[in-house]
Amino acid sequence: MEKRANFGSKLGIVLASAGSAVGLGNVWRFPTEVGENGGAAFILVYVLCVIILGLPLMVSEFVIGRRTHKNTADAYRELAPGSAWIFQGYLGVFTAWFILCYYGVVSGWTLKYLVSGFIGELHRVTDSADYFVQFSSSTWAPVVYMAVVMLMCHVVIVRGVQTGIERFSKLMMPLLLLIIALLVVFSFSMPGSADGLRFLLKPDFSKIDSSVILSAMGQAFFSLSIGMGCLCTYASYFTDDAKLVKTAGSVAAIDTTVAVMSGFIIFPAVFSVEAVAPDAGPGLVFITLPNVFQIAFGNVAWLGWLFSVLFYLLLLLAALTSMVSIHEPPTAFLLEHFNLRRSTATTIVTSVCIGVGMLCSLSFGLLADFRPLFGLTFFDFFDFVSAKIFLPVGGIIISLFVGWRLSSDMVFDELSNHGHLHVPRWAFSVYIFLLRWLIPLAIMAIFLKELGVF
Ligand code: PFF
Repeated sequence: MEKRANFGSKLGIVLASAGSAVGLGNVWRFPTEVGENGGAAFILVYVLCVIILGLPLMVSEFVIGRRTHKNTADAYRELAPGSAWIFQGYLGVFTAWFILCYYGVVSGWTLKYLVSGFIGELHRVTDSADYFVQFSSSTWAPVVYMAVVMLMCHVVIVRGVQTGIERFSKLMMPLLLLIIALLVVFSFSMPGSADGLRFLLKPDFSKIDSSVILSAMGQAFFSLSIGMGCLCTYASYFTDDAKLVKTAGSVAAIDTTVAVMSGFIIFPAVFSVEAVAPDAGPGLVFITLPNVFQIAFGNVAWLGWLFSVLFYLLLLLAALTSMVSIHEPPTAFLLEHFNLRRSTATTIVTSVCIGVGMLCSLSFGLLADFRPLFGLTFFDFFDFVSAKIFLPVGGIIISLFVGWRLSSDMVFDELSNHGHLHVPRWAFSVYIFLLRWLIPLAIMAIFLKELGVF
């Protein structure tokens, strides 16, 4: 049998995993959540959720993947043969596939905004809400942009683990971090940006209520790519000397830094323009920001151009590195489970995603009133089922699986690289306690809230 691929270096491992975590969730969803949930207090709760809930789950996905060196579906089959736990392996593959279908549509929008920013069209728009609605509801343009980003992702995946995913992440992640640093400096230098900073840095604890906590937890899971086969699949390519806890810590640190920095980019800019509300919701990035770029740089047009091009390039790079990681679990599954060639497996995944992605894209126009699935449009259905149902269910199953089903000795052995690394016993006990009790209960709470039970 052909030798299974793996990542070639520790840096590659960290950057590929961070590439998965850093995505639209950081640059688009996080600032939106911060705006809607009152600023700094939300960030504090978010960071706690990352440390207490996100990190242990990420480490657990790493344990499952690295222990077996198999695609997600076969990893559960190996660890719990003949049991119902295998269901989670398949669920992971399908969740990834579902997410990619609609994530690709929003990624396509970012490409469109990058192009319009670059050719100067964005700067001439007079009504940015109308511009966004006109574009997203049209029939062909969003489908073409979605297909283009799917094909970019395809080209990376088809090249395999080291020459595709790892090389791409090693190129894109440093570029992404550089753009963020530039944009932060830019944004801070705007007049009136101090109000935005105050909003981000001064916590108002009276804002924290159960709904803020639940939103922060949901955001942490989505942003860290937890709950499906993604990190588990990447971990199956980790080398045996990779340090799982340290890698998870680095990934969480990079992911959180990028999210907070995105807030540092967006809010000082937004606050520098009067009459723009920070709690503009999901339209923040596609409707509010183009306005901000225009007004803030009204008399220095080339600066507005540069800011918007860099910003949408950042968004696109973040989206692409995540898309690559979401593409890999179904590809690895088809490739290994059905013994297909990588190119065939990749082509099947990409084609299905473009087909379903087309339906998701048309949900904003031609098919807006076609709601065959639970009264939802295709886009809303795929978003709802994967992010609101499959991800939390996956998170609960993973924590119970590693907490209760796997033997603690085996998990300890994997975390300590077969005894080569020092893992304090007390820290391990806290980790197992969190997996057994706190994390499943916390995710259950998010789940019920999302379903509107309370
Ligand atoms: N973490 C990605 C983001 O923040 O945009 C999204 C994501 C990727 C979610 C991979 C889930 C996943 F498995």
